[in-house]
Order: sequence, then structure tokens, then C-alpha cells
Amino acid sequence: MSLDPQWVRSHFPSVLNSETVFLDNPGGTQVTQSVIDAVTDYYLTANANHGGAFPTSERSDAILHQARIAFADFLNAARPEEIAFGPNMTTLTFLLSRALGRWMRPDDEIIVTRLDHDANVAPWVALEERGIVIKRVDINTDDCTLDMSDFERHLSDKTRVVAVGLASNAVGSVNPVRTIADLTHMAGALVFADAVAYAPHYPIDVQQLNVDFLACSAYKFYGPHLGILYGKYEHLDRLQAYKVRPAENVPPHKFETGTQNHEGIAGAAAAVNYLATVGEKFGAPYEADYAAFAGRRKHLKTAMRATQSYEKNLFIRLMNGLRELPGVRFYGITNPARFDYRAPTACFNLEGHHPQDIAAKLGAQNINVWDGNYYALSLMERLDLETTGGAVRIGLAQYNTSEEIDRILAALYKILK
Ligand SMILES: Cc1ncc(COP(=O)(O)O)c(C=O)c1O
Repeated sequence: MSLDPQWVRSHFPSVLNSETVFLDNPGGTQVTQSVIDAVTDYYLTANANHGGAFPTSERSDAILHQARIAFADFLNAARPEEIAFGPNMTTLTFLLSRALGRWMRPDDEIIVTRLDHDANVAPWVALEERGIVIKRVDINTDDCTLDMSDFERHLSDKTRVVAVGLASNAVGSVNPVRTIADLTHMAGALVFADAVAYAPHYPIDVQQLNVDFLACSAYKFYGPHLGILYGKYEHLDRLQAYKVRPAENVPPHKFETGTQNHEGIAGAAAAVNYLATVGEKFGAPYEADYAAFAGRRKHLKTAMRATQSYEKNLFIRLMNGLRELPGVRFYGITNPARFDYRAPTACFNLEGHHPQDIAAKLGAQNINVWDGNYYALSLMERLDLETTGGAVRIGLAQYNTSEEIDRILAALYKILK
């Protein structure tokens, strides 16, 4: 069963009551009323610091614990203690890379990719100061996919960590992370997966992916600005975290520096619960490959499968329209038969037009799109776009409609006239 966009939109007050077409989603999505309510409720009923012997603190800790369970469900983690919260994915990744760096020696190697957002590059490159060697996996420039033979060339018994994205936030390519994880483990190294651009569009199963660590951001899938780090318990337990002495030295608390964004965590759990209701309403509950899941885990898997299929159809309409524009240069996978390996994010340029001009002209018509490099710096450099303003990016979410696709295509035609 496909998503009903009107049902979806009815949950998003900023979408429902607005003339704006939100196609800036890979930079951050709108939030549901339930997320707003959860944040408000936290302030009204549970606003306190962690670990106090009084009711609001106990309520606050109970809300945080429930949120951990919600994200363990969202990612199919083995236990809630494998989920740590933080300000955003970037900060959590710096925190983890620093902790992992403690366990490495000079001349050990880390593999990063040219497809990744810099948040999954810079935290690893920072370890060069400890003598760690960084290897960069190239891309196939024709379709902006990862060059897997280059990955295999770099992988060796010197590799300690492979840092790879599940999906590109710029061009949408989905990487074969399970295969990468298997090869990496055979080489005796660990895998860190950036799921920020993947989580809004696909079900995630950390056990099936067999990754050691994974990070995502709730504000990309209808929640507040918050980062989430998953780590296999044995790794989180073994690693020495950068922490203050009085803070608990057990997972996940040892990775949660200082006081957390409690209200944001409450809101993020509400975003997960919103997605579960999507699964309950629109999912196909008897999908064979989800037979092993129960309750919210099953609803979340089916919600994301329904999202994937709804957004894929919208994306085909968008891509077909964009590719007919005069002077268009479209980046990434274009063959719909390969769209299970492509997030619904369109990246393109129009000959003779600066990407920022296009974004500004659309913005003036209340159509939000991004331009620039969106911090996918290595990719833009590799595509030779970094010095010319990058590219325009249109990214879909559950609440987008085919009417909105037609509206942006018509607006682009008008700009080109
Ligand atoms: C693929 C990807 N990774 C990482 C990040 C950084 O996430 P955060 O803003 O939570 O630090 C982003 C943000 O746009 C992203 O798109």
C-alpha cells in the first residue's frame, strides 16, 4: 500500500499551513505535531537534569530511556544501551574517531571515501596528527557510485577503520555497505557507517548490515536537531571515551558528554513513533523478509519500505522532468532499474546558470532547494564543481507530492525562458 501524502501532510503543521514547497529535505525536514507536542510536554512535565532523586528527574530519565528503546527499534539494535545521543552526527563522529584513535598506532590506516559528507571524512583525517594514514576511495564519475575495486585496493591488514556512507547526501548513490562490512571484517578492521542521508528513506538494520558503528540525525527524518550514534555494545564497552570523571563510565553514557538535549531526545522519539504509525497504516505487515520483526520494529521497517516506494515514484517523475530541461547536467544514477540503490535526491546544473541563482529564483517563489556543496566537499572537487558553485539539489520527503514536482519543473522552465 502506498503512502497517502494528504494523510502524511496532515501531521506536519508547518507543511500544511504553508505555501512553501519543501524540497530542501536533505538539509533537514519539517517536524510532526507529535514532535512539537513531545518537546512541549517535556518542558511542562519533566524538565530536569539526569539522575536526581525527585519526580521530574525520574520522569526525564524515563523519557530518555524510552527514546533509547525507540532508536534501538528504529535501527534494529540488539539493546538500547547501544544507542548514544549527541548534538549532531558530526560531533558524535569526532567523539568516536578520537576514542578509536587512542587504540591505533602510527602507520595504521583508515579508509574514507570521496562520496561522503565531510562529517564522515574530517573526523578521521584529524587522526593524521597521530601518524594515522588516510586512504581515499574514488568514485565512478559517470554515475557517482563508489569504485569498489579502488576500495578493495586500499583495504589491507593495515586498515583499522573503514568510514563509509550508506547514501550520498549530494547525489543519492547508495553504497553496498553490507559487502563493505564483510570485506572489512575479513581484513580485521571496523566499519563506521554514516546513515544520515539514508535513514529518511530506507529501513535500517544494523545487525543485518553488520556495521560496528552507525550514526544518523533525527532532524533529517522529521525530528528535532539531534544526533544518534549506534555502536556494538562490546566496542562501546571496550573503548575509552573522552569524558569527565564523575560521569558514568558505561555505555552509552560514557559517550554522552555533558547534559544532553533532553527535549530534543523526547521529540526524536516522537518522530520514531510517528514513523511507526506510518508503518501501521500504510505498511504491508506480512512482507516475508520482515517476518522476524514484531511490534514497533515491524511497523518501522514497513513504514520505511512504503516511504521508499512512494518517494521512488515521485523521484522518477522529477528526474524525467529535470532531464528534459535544456542544458541540464544531471549527476548520479539515472536508470530506474537501479533505483533501489539511489536515494530520492536530485543533483544537477543548468548550463549558463549559477546554482545559487537557480536556488534564489526558486526560493523567491517559496520553493526551497539547496545549492553549493552541502559539505560533500570531496565529491564536488572530484566532479570539478567546487569552484563553480557546486550544483542544485532537490531532495524528497514523505510529505512531497506530484503537484509539487510539477510546480518546481514549471518554475525551472520559466527561469530558463
Ligand atoms: C550524509 C550526511 N552526513 C553527515 C551529516 C552531518 O550531520 P549533522 O548535521 O547531524 O552533523 C549530514 C548533514 O547534512 C549529511 O547529509
